[in-house]
Amino acid sequence: MRILGIESSADETSAAVVESDGPGGVRLLSNVIQSQIDIHKVYGGIVPEISARSHIEAILPVIEAALQQSLVASHYSPGKGSPKLETGDKRQATQSDPWNQIDAIAVTYAPGLVGSLLMGVMTARTLALIKKKPLYPIHHVKAHVYANFINPVSHNTSGTTLTPRWRPPTFPILALIVSGGHTQLVLFESHQQYKILGRTQDDAVGEAFDKVAKILGLPYPGGPSIQAAAAKGDSSKYTLPKAKMKNNYDFSFSGLKTAFLRRVQREVGVDITFPSHELSSRLSTAERYDFAASFQQTAVETLVDKTIKAYQEFSPASVVIAGGVAANQALRRQLSDRLPIKVTYPPIWLCTDNGAMIASAAYYESQFRQPCDPRDLEVVPSLSM
Ligand code: KG4
Ligand code: ZN
Repeated sequence: MRILGIESSADETSAAVVESDGPGGVRLLSNVIQSQIDIHKVYGGIVPEISARSHIEAILPVIEAALQQSLVASHYSPGKGSPKLETGDKRQATQSDPWNQIDAIAVTYAPGLVGSLLMGVMTARTLALIKKKPLYPIHHVKAHVYANFINPVSHNTSGTTLTPRWRPPTFPILALIVSGGHTQLVLFESHQQYKILGRTQDDAVGEAFDKVAKILGLPYPGGPSIQAAAAKGDSSKYTLPKAKMKNNYDFSFSGLKTAFLRRVQREVGVDITFPSHELSSRLSTAERYDFAASFQQTAVETLVDKTIKAYQEFSPASVVIAGGVAANQALRRQLSDRLPIKVTYPPIWLCTDNGAMIASAAYYESQFRQPCDPRDLEVVPSLSM
């Protein structure tokens, strides 16, 4: 089964084709991502109106590229260039209509920015009707977990190859989902049955990385900027508080962000009325690194403490991390160090938003769910898993 996955919920326009690989999970045939990061960078965050308009321009070329690449690739990994065209493949690419090989379409319908979601959903609805393909609506946050079900291709001198004997995580799965919009611990009994153990009561952890980066004058998106600055800093320099929650597995990051702001204000000797965007120029480079490291340490420790607690209580067979913040090296390292079993996480380019995770989720959902009627599919900007 080959599925085209379409993602447009925030600032990446992405389309990918995956193919089922039986017990080996799914394998990637293409994954095209057009990021809007450079457009939004100047504003320090996503501007919804601009995001929607950028998706309109990008979506059809991105889908076309994903379909074409899927025809010529047996497996594909971005960052390593496009798959090489062999003579036979070239013939196949020009002769075949890529749509003949697509069995279903999957699209993110929730949650996200309404205008951005609409671009993906309207495109998918139209294509499903014209090309007569079943359409699967996919929940973006759940789909992040399914990046862990894609065979992580390895790279060598002869190109990219599937990781041999690789197997996707087994149930029950404890998933720590950490992105710019969501932070939650979920226990999956199966693909169909899951329980949310806890979630953030205010800001998502990725959002906290982004806001703290802004205070430190580091570029958007904040996660990678904080990680790079933290690598040069001393994480024990500034003590920051961890929120105490009524439900053990809930999170809160807005208090940490405010405590961070107050600590920086105190360090530079100004009161709480001093504008946050003028703080970074008063910090030395070393102070900026130490603040980044101290924040990252506190945020990561909070995530890891709760994941360990849930692991001890529920004894899952696998622990996975998913979402943009799963790209964070400190989070990966600390969780790996403290858990008695191996932690599963996607390659970095599958942690942030992509069409491959949407297609992967749809492959597993198609085993227990009927496709929707393309004429009825609506977007839902705010929807829990
Ligand atoms: O999953 P994602 O691409 O979009 C949402 O669904 O929200 O996640 C984006 C978030 C941003 O907040 C970004 O700062 C964060 O993931 N992020 C990171 C790293 N890379 C991306 N956070 C910490 N460390 C990173 N290396
Ligand atoms: Zn996401």
